[in-house]
Amino acid sequence: MNWKNIFKYKKSRNAESLLETVLARPVPRHISIIMDGNGRWAEKRNLPRVAGHKQGVEVLRDIISTSSQIGIAHLTLYAFSTENWKRPESEVRALMSLLVEFLQKEINELHNNKVKIYMLGDINGLPQEAAREVEKAMNLTAANKGLQVNIALNYGSRMEIIKAARKIAREVSQGKLSLDDITEELFSEFLETRGIPDPDLMIRTSGEYRLSNFLLYQSAYTELIFTDKQVFWPDFNRERYLEAIYEYQNRKRRFGGIDDVQAGVE
Ligand code: IPE
Ligand code: IPE
Ligand code: MG
Repeated sequence: MNWKNIFKYKKSRNAESLLETVLARPVPRHISIIMDGNGRWAEKRNLPRVAGHKQGVEVLRDIISTSSQIGIAHLTLYAFSTENWKRPESEVRALMSLLVEFLQKEINELHNNKVKIYMLGDINGLPQEAAREVEKAMNLTAANKGLQVNIALNYGSRMEIIKAARKIAREVSQGKLSLDDITEELFSEFLETRGIPDPDLMIRTSGEYRLSNFLLYQSAYTELIFTDKQVFWPDFNRERYLEAIYEYQNRKRRFGGIDDVQAGVE
């Protein structure tokens, strides 16, 4: 065994013992991820930014299969924001091709593993080939009951909220809804995430501490984990993912209330 293999063995053994620990407690129902830092990962290596995006796709496979293995119900991945159109055309084109390639290569295995693919965002704004491939993947996997992977593509949370407000306003003006019908629950049903529980945990890689227009309404009480800036998305892996879930499991969620233990003492 050479040094490289020993290192690999140690790393994976750590991931496997973490897996046991994580599985001993309730896992989040819904995890959302801002996969950030592909460009910087590549720049650090004097590679073109696209090389970072390619490596990022490799990581995605691991994260999806781990999520499926540990019984996460929803994984929502921020793949392309409405603001990402500002990037050079060549980078946008490369990102869309990577998406198409990923779906073409992986869809059968995902389908065999009962993964359901769903898209958040405006599909009509996507290049034709990307839209077609996403549509195909959604149709093929629509009835699957395993992990649901929500891909946020051409997605922006403010626009999502505005569209919901418009639809509700229309229904009110048509007399289908009254003002009193507009509750938090009803509003959620008009968002693109209708039927999907709010994220329990959001992870962002690359040391950027912001939401960048991702799931703003849905994340009111989401636990946030930001990796430090040495960990770009292509550096993320199964072990770091399990570590984040473990950290989540050790947090106390209060939703504005007080701890159960304290409540018992009162
Ligand atoms: C995230 O990595 C991928 C997408 C936004 C599509 P970036 O491309 O944002 O990488 P950095 O943040 O510039 O390093
Ligand atoms: C957020 O990352 C979008 C995705 C990861 C798809 P960005 O890299 O676009 O975000 P900002 O511009 O740094 O806020
Ligand atoms: Mg970025």
